[in-house]
Amino acid sequence: MASKQRLLVTGGAGFIGSAFVRHRLRSHPGSPIRVLDALTYAGDARHLAGLDGEVELVVGDVAERSHVEAAMDGCSGVVHFAAESHVDRSLRDKDPFERTNVEGTSVLLQAASKAEVSRFLLVSTDEVYGDVSGKTRKSLETDPPHPGNPYAASKARAEALVLEAAANGMDTCITRGANTCGPRQYPEKVVPLFVTNALLGLNLPVYGAGTARRDWLHVDDHCSGIDRVFEHGKAGEVYNLGSRTATSTMELAQIILNCVGKTNSEIVHVADRPGHDLLYAVDPSRAESLGWSPLHDPVSAIADTVRWYVKHEDWWRQARASEHFQTHLRAWYIERQA
Ligand SMILES: NC(=O)c1ccc[n+]([C@@H]2O[C@H](COP(=O)([O-])OP(=O)(O)OC[C@H]3O[C@@H](n4cnc5c(N)ncnc54)[C@H](O)[C@@H]3O)[C@@H](O)[C@H]2O)c1
Repeated sequence: MASKQRLLVTGGAGFIGSAFVRHRLRSHPGSPIRVLDALTYAGDARHLAGLDGEVELVVGDVAERSHVEAAMDGCSGVVHFAAESHVDRSLRDKDPFERTNVEGTSVLLQAASKAEVSRFLLVSTDEVYGDVSGKTRKSLETDPPHPGNPYAASKARAEALVLEAAANGMDTCITRGANTCGPRQYPEKVVPLFVTNALLGLNLPVYGAGTARRDWLHVDDHCSGIDRVFEHGKAGEVYNLGSRTATSTMELAQIILNCVGKTNSEIVHVADRPGHDLLYAVDPSRAESLGWSPLHDPVSAIADTVRWYVKHEDWWRQARASEHFQTHLRAWYIERQA
């Protein structure tokens, strides 16, 4: 990929998207970036603070053709992060997931095709494989999708649209990243929820027995993998990004309590998420063959995350004070204590 051409990054004001923008400015200095982001509850223009000269933020919706066509103008590549990203929310209301994750991807692909971009990368998820706890090996890119919740199903449908575009001549790649932690993640997700609860001295609410296992990636490792695939991936190909580890929710809670240090917080159990997938575990060999590997293990990834939340208390306190966050907390944790 030519590095000096303008890149369109959708969802670039969100958790992983904003980390990717900073990563990309380091890996391709002087290469202009335009971010298209609707600034939903999970997006925040402050995530791009200090990058004004290098990054243009366009506030707009990926499912709105006029917004997308205007944002695509003059761009030669697309990295598509924008999504509704929380499984719990998808279990209560699928509509925003259908609109942003599926329709938004369709609108973007059509605009990208018209603009003849040189590459379109969809940031997808290992959740499309569904629960692999009964399997004897890690998921390979050739395994069929078997999504177990509406969020994962919407991402699988977005992937299908990208694969169809590839079959019809577009240069595309898809990454299937593992669960990701790091700075600037909205505190509804399990790692920042547990970290901020521990910092506040509140209990850590674990779904069910806490035996569900995830392959935790540090956000910087996820972003270096996406960048590596964007630059060196084979057209039409899918790439798993994972750390070859499996950490249970109980272990995660314990690591977080250890990192936060002295706290009165305890682990408590709440009713499990319906259809909770017990294990995601990808084989990242294909991405590794491009020269990518994660630098963090789960403990160092979580320790780095805790350090950021300790330093940015104003940000997460403000997010937690919002009605949006509080409603979610009540519905999924407070009213479901075992
Ligand atoms: N967080 C994870 O563990 C993880 C793991 C693998 C893959 N992913 C994928 O990575 C991508 C980013 O995830 P994240 O955790 O950073 O999510 P996030 O919820 O933190 O950020 C999503 C961003 O998309 C924006 N957005 C939402 N709807 C939009 C719309 N209609 N138009 C334009 N912008 C819109 C939001 O404002 C926000 O900035 C998603 O596609 C997700 O499926 C996430």
